[in-house]
Amino acid sequence: MFENTHFPKAKKFWQSGKFYDWSQPNIHAMTHALHYGTSVFEGIRAYNTDRGPAIFRLPEHIDRLFLSASVQQMNVPYSKEEIIDIIKKVIKENQLQTAYIRPLLFYSYGNLGLVPRVCPVELNVAAWEWGAYLGEKAETGVHVFILPQRRFHHSQLDMRAKLGGMYVQSAIAGMEARARGYDEGVFLNLEGRVAEGPGENIFIVKNGVLKTNDNSESILEGITRSSLLEIAAYLGFPTEIGPITKEEFFTADEAFFCGTAVEVTPIVKISDGSESDSASREYTLGAGSPGEITLKMRQTYKDVVSGKIPEFIKWLTFVNE
Ligand SMILES: Cc1ncc(COP(=O)(O)O)c(C=O)c1O
Repeated sequence: MFENTHFPKAKKFWQSGKFYDWSQPNIHAMTHALHYGTSVFEGIRAYNTDRGPAIFRLPEHIDRLFLSASVQQMNVPYSKEEIIDIIKKVIKENQLQTAYIRPLLFYSYGNLGLVPRVCPVELNVAAWEWGAYLGEKAETGVHVFILPQRRFHHSQLDMRAKLGGMYVQSAIAGMEARARGYDEGVFLNLEGRVAEGPGENIFIVKNGVLKTNDNSESILEGITRSSLLEIAAYLGFPTEIGPITKEEFFTADEAFFCGTAVEVTPIVKISDGSESDSASREYTLGAGSPGEITLKMRQTYKDVVSGKIPEFIKWLTFVNE
C-alpha cells in the first residue's frame, strides 16, 4: 500500500476498465513507460460552479492527448467520447467539486527493448484536489530563474505533444531553480529567446499590450494561453504573438506564467542564470508586485473557469449534466 498524505482527497483511480483504491499498487516495475518515459498525459482542472463541478476545456485537452499519442505512435484503445465519460466518472466516484485531472496513456508491461513491440497501451485516469501550483506566491508574485540549459527545440521533438519523457527536462529544471532558492525556472530556447517555464507558458505586458510566443519558439502552446488570448480580447486588451527576447522580458512592465496547474501567476522578479559568467543579475518588474493587467487577467480567468461569465460557459463541461 502507498502512503496517501499528498493526495488527501483522492479515493479511487481508474485504470484500464476498473476503479482501484487509491493506495493500491497496480503497476509492474518492468512497465515500459517507467523506464523510457513512453507515456503521454494531460493536466486538466475542474472547478466548482453553480451547476456543480465543471471541467475546463475538456474536448481541447482530449484532442491534445490524442495528438500526443500519435506523436508517441500509440494506438489509443478508447475513443475520445469514452475518455470524456471516464473522466466524469472519476470525478463523481471521488465526489470532487474541484479537481486536478490526470489522464495518462502509457506503454505498459510487455517487452523492455526500446521499441514497445508487445506492450499494451493502458489508460489511467486520476483526479484529486490540488491547490495553487506555486503556493501562496501565486498571489504575491514569483521570482524566476532563467536556466542555463536550453529548452528542447521544436526541430528535435514535436513540442505540441505532452510526452512523459519530455518532462525529465522540466523536473530537473524545476528542482534546480528551487535548489537555488527561486520559485520556478524559465527556459530559453536554442535561439536564446524566452521559451517557457517547465510547466507554464509566459506572457509579458508592455505599454498595455499583452505578448506571448508560439510553437515556433519551442513551447507547448497551452490551452490556458489560447484561452487568455481570447479573454484579453474580451477585456479589450491588445495582444501580440511573437518571439520574446531576454531584454523584453527584463524590461517588461508586467509578466505572468499561465497554465492549467499554475492558472495565472504573476512574475515579479527575474534572475538571469543563462550565461555562465553573469552572476545571476536580478531584474524587478514594475513595482515588484503584481501589475494591474496581470491581476485583471487572473481574476477574469477565475471567473471564466467557475462559470461566472456567460460568453465563456461554452468552455465548460458540466460533470453532472
Ligand atoms: C511545458 C508546458 N508548457 C505550458 C503548459 C501550459 O499548458 P496548458 O495551459 O494547456 O495547461 C504546460 C502545462 O500543461 C506545460 O507542461
